[in-house]
Amino acid sequence: MSTDYKDENLISTTFDDPGEPDEDARLVDTGSLPGDEAGDNPLRPQTISDYIGQESVKENLKIYIEASKARKEPLDHVLLYGPPGLGKTTLAGIIAHEMGVGFRITSGPAIERPGDLAAILSALTPGDVLFIDECHRMSRAVEEILYPAMEDFAIDIVTGKGQGAMSYHLPLPKFTLVGATTRAGRISAPMRDRFGVLLRLELYTPEELALIIRRSAGILGVAIDHDGSLELASRSRGTPRIANRLLKRVRDFAQVESNGVITEDLARRALDRLGIDELGLDKIDRMLLDSIIRFFGGGPVGLETLAAATGEEAVTIEDVYEPYLMQIGFLTRTPRGRCVTRQAYLHLGLKPPAGAVGSQSILPEF
Ligand code: ADE
Repeated sequence: MSTDYKDENLISTTFDDPGEPDEDARLVDTGSLPGDEAGDNPLRPQTISDYIGQESVKENLKIYIEASKARKEPLDHVLLYGPPGLGKTTLAGIIAHEMGVGFRITSGPAIERPGDLAAILSALTPGDVLFIDECHRMSRAVEEILYPAMEDFAIDIVTGKGQGAMSYHLPLPKFTLVGATTRAGRISAPMRDRFGVLLRLELYTPEELALIIRRSAGILGVAIDHDGSLELASRSRGTPRIANRLLKRVRDFAQVESNGVITEDLARRALDRLGIDELGLDKIDRMLLDSIIRFFGGGPVGLETLAAATGEEAVTIEDVYEPYLMQIGFLTRTPRGRCVTRQAYLHLGLKPPAGAVGSQSILPEF
């Protein structure tokens, strides 16, 4: 059985087509763009030893993979969760590669009807890894087909209606479902209970991102020095997808306006021109913080109220902006809502009010 990512074409045509990137798309957006996807992305590591970071996830996975291979059984179903852009699809592909099985890929929203899922499941080869991205976005009817498939490797299909209705019990090949979600809390309890392995991916440290950037630069044939990679890493919001995207843009500046080498100084000047500050915040992050300060006295403010005030969707604020703003200690969540911290005021060049909350920042005090 091939582990070639091209294999996934069988089903990956059902993936939401991300379309052409919008001219104004955020460079620090964590959503995938054409070229980021598994099949044609040379930057994606294929083996667990090439995958940088997420150490405890990798250590545990290695044990589970070795044990299930020794038992000649498929790996238990795996749920990967955490903010977007951290490598959930990549890790699913690596699981298939390390297990030596085929890799099939689809997404929750692409599986519209129970019959779509039945078709995908019945086309699997024994042992396959079936990756369902955004698995919190499946309808109840689709989920109900998935439960017996996960538990008993069989589905019950009903055709026709009334007296002519017929029910078929269809055994399936044994497979491993790898589900991915940015919103673990949205997975229904019966579905969550059917995953044997739950793994949470964390934002990467700047040092891990610098390693990823140097690996990617090597693959792309881009010259970058140690400090250049750290400068890029520290502005990549803990997210490899952003780091790789910034690397490609900064490479253009190095090529056209310098000698092709990405140094700390070159990276700093290029990223300043792209509107990405020294902590990786872009104008939308700054607008969010600024809105909480100006309209809500620095908080607390509820998520929905903030969404209405800024015109951003609540889920986008929660999934895309907040994880990083919280990681750097610029935003805290209290039972009464979101609050901007002293550190964020200072970063924006504002004087924090006497009552401003401090943070558990990973950054030194300014
Ligand atoms: N490219 C994207 N994510 C990566 C990771 N975690 N390790 C190595 N290369 C990557």
